[in-house]
Amino acid sequence: MRRALVAGNWKMHRTAAEARGLAEELRGVVGGTGASADVVVCPTFTSLQVVGEALEGSGISLGAQNMHWEKEGAFTGEVSAAMILTIGCIYVILGHSERRQYFAETDESVNRKLAAALDVGLKPIVCIGETLEQREAGQMENVVLGQVKAALDGISAEAVPGIALAYEPIWAIGTGRTATPAQAEEVHLHIRQFLRSIFGDRAADAVRIQYGGSVKPDNASELFSQANIDGGLIGGASLEVESFAAIVTAAG
Ligand code: PGA
Repeated sequence: MRRALVAGNWKMHRTAAEARGLAEELRGVVGGTGASADVVVCPTFTSLQVVGEALEGSGISLGAQNMHWEKEGAFTGEVSAAMILTIGCIYVILGHSERRQYFAETDESVNRKLAAALDVGLKPIVCIGETLEQREAGQMENVVLGQVKAALDGISAEAVPGIALAYEPIWAIGTGRTATPAQAEEVHLHIRQFLRSIFGDRAADAVRIQYGGSVKPDNASELFSQANIDGGLIGGASLEVESFAAIVTAAG
């Protein structure tokens, strides 16, 4: 009943010309998979325009990797929700662990960004996930549900179906170490139950919860076949067209 969402997070890779080339290749390969999943790629700000042009009419959507919550103003180096929307973005990744870790992003800033993104009609992908130390200390559930609660504070139940959450255990990002499908499913189920308790059945049943962290063609099918895993947020493997296409097919 939920359509899977597969998003490629290109992080700080590819110049505009290189990104255009990658998008053109993707268009040929992923565009032809006949996948029933929603597919999105998130290049750097500087490549949004050219990638959007290259993907026009392909069925692959464009997303940004971050945004600021203010509409405009003296915020050097920042980009607003309206700026990414009007350049062609449908989606925006918010609160990725790398932003939390290296750029001091907090639950509070993620919450403000989420409200601002929804305000202009962007579809947010909100990232959450625990560190290895937190998992080993038995705090995984508290941390993850705390992040969900803080990110969605003040958001209406009607808005929740338009949001995707990406559960990305930090110890699995870029490490080649993936959560097992059972480990991931357990967390996804907890998140969905938590959302059900706050926002009700309709919101909890509709919201998409992606898994992220070393998703590759050889583990994607098993992860995506779990009842509460609705696609993935893909880093490294999204920069290789064949890998990304195989992951999209696994979700479809
Ligand atoms: P990875 O990155 O697939 O390279 O582990 C995932 C992410 O950071 O979104």
